[in-house]
Amino acid sequence: MADSRVFDLDQLSAAMEAPPPDQPGGVENTAPTVLPESNGQAHNTLVPQSDGEPVRVSLDSGYDDNDGDSTLSTTPIHDHAKEFREENGRTYHGYKSEKRYLLPNDVREEERLNIQHHSLRLAIGDKLFLAPIEQLTEVFDVGAGTGIWAVSMGDAYPAARIEGIDLSPIQPQWVPPNVTFLREDLDDDWHSPGRFDLIHTREMNGIAIKDWTIFFERAYASMKPGGWVECQECDKDIRSDDNTIPKDSVVLQWLRLREQGFEKAGMTGRCYPENMAHSMRKAGFINVNVLSFKMPIGPWAKDPMLHECGSYTLGGLLDHVQGLSLRVFTEHLGWTQEELEVLLMDVRKEWKRGDIHSYYPIYVVYGQKPPRANEDMDFPMSP
Ligand SMILES: C[S@@+](CC[C@H](N)C(=O)[O-])C[C@H]1O[C@@H](n2cnc3c(N)ncnc32)[C@H](O)[C@@H]1O
Repeated sequence: MADSRVFDLDQLSAAMEAPPPDQPGGVENTAPTVLPESNGQAHNTLVPQSDGEPVRVSLDSGYDDNDGDSTLSTTPIHDHAKEFREENGRTYHGYKSEKRYLLPNDVREEERLNIQHHSLRLAIGDKLFLAPIEQLTEVFDVGAGTGIWAVSMGDAYPAARIEGIDLSPIQPQWVPPNVTFLREDLDDDWHSPGRFDLIHTREMNGIAIKDWTIFFERAYASMKPGGWVECQECDKDIRSDDNTIPKDSVVLQWLRLREQGFEKAGMTGRCYPENMAHSMRKAGFINVNVLSFKMPIGPWAKDPMLHECGSYTLGGLLDHVQGLSLRVFTEHLGWTQEELEVLLMDVRKEWKRGDIHSYYPIYVVYGQKPPRANEDMDFPMSP
């Protein structure tokens, strides 16, 4: 029923297509605002819209998986379907399938990524990046997913060249002429010494990038002097500031189990921004900054932008918690899909309650290659 939706797809796609105030489409490319050094405080303020009153959350997650009219799904650049691996009704990457990346790559996952792009962008102040970059000519998006960030960058900076890589060729066929995608493994050689002035990751921490030290060493070697690396990472450590999460929270139980599964897979499933900042500095980056933000789960925040983020995030989680869990639970915890579905029913029920002011942190960690770095040729490419 349309009027009971948390949001609807038309509204979402219109919002995604509308040029943001600081981007082209009639607006100049401005350098993003430099935010102050992290002091442990979030850079957005999360206040419930009303104390005590539960927020009405629709039991309809926002859209129907089977209605076939999604405007969010992207068209693969080629038909690589035969290369995908099917498991429990979802597909996973077929290229380098031995890497066993734990999240699916089907249309439902594409929807999750596209919704999340919108909410993450809003949560960090409607920006595509926060590093104080003066010049953008060559941009590298590592683990580009559906390519929605890279395409937005291509639109926003028509004079720059944007290259995205991913294990899964799930990027759209029609992209701005300055955007290209390659099916590549980030652990393979990047072959681009001194090329980029922005290297970007998003939602890669703890699920796709195991070793940030190696990653930042490669980034450093692939970057022009003065270039920036920026990692926009979510820590799915769900919490509340007003103790509204119940002690016996099934969401927290799900989260801890999921973490155990990730650990068994050799990942953390978590984000430790100070460790990332440390690895960045160790690789030679300067002006390293860690900024934290809060991503509300549900439309409970007073601030209109965060209210919107919360709606998108809740809708995304309700529909896509299965994809976030399936391979982790079945492959690493030995659960059956049926056992998982029972748990997820309770997880969704708790998210729909409306009286829980939960959120998870987002960290933006960025740093700069020293502008005179190449004069010393001081950092070797990692083996
Ligand atoms: C959670 S998604 C994030 C996508 C995108 N950065 C975004 O924010 O929308 C992580 C992506 O990393 C990709 N990935 C995982 N391991 C990879 C690897 N070793 N090399 C390249 N891409 C990888 C996955 O295929 C997936 O598309």
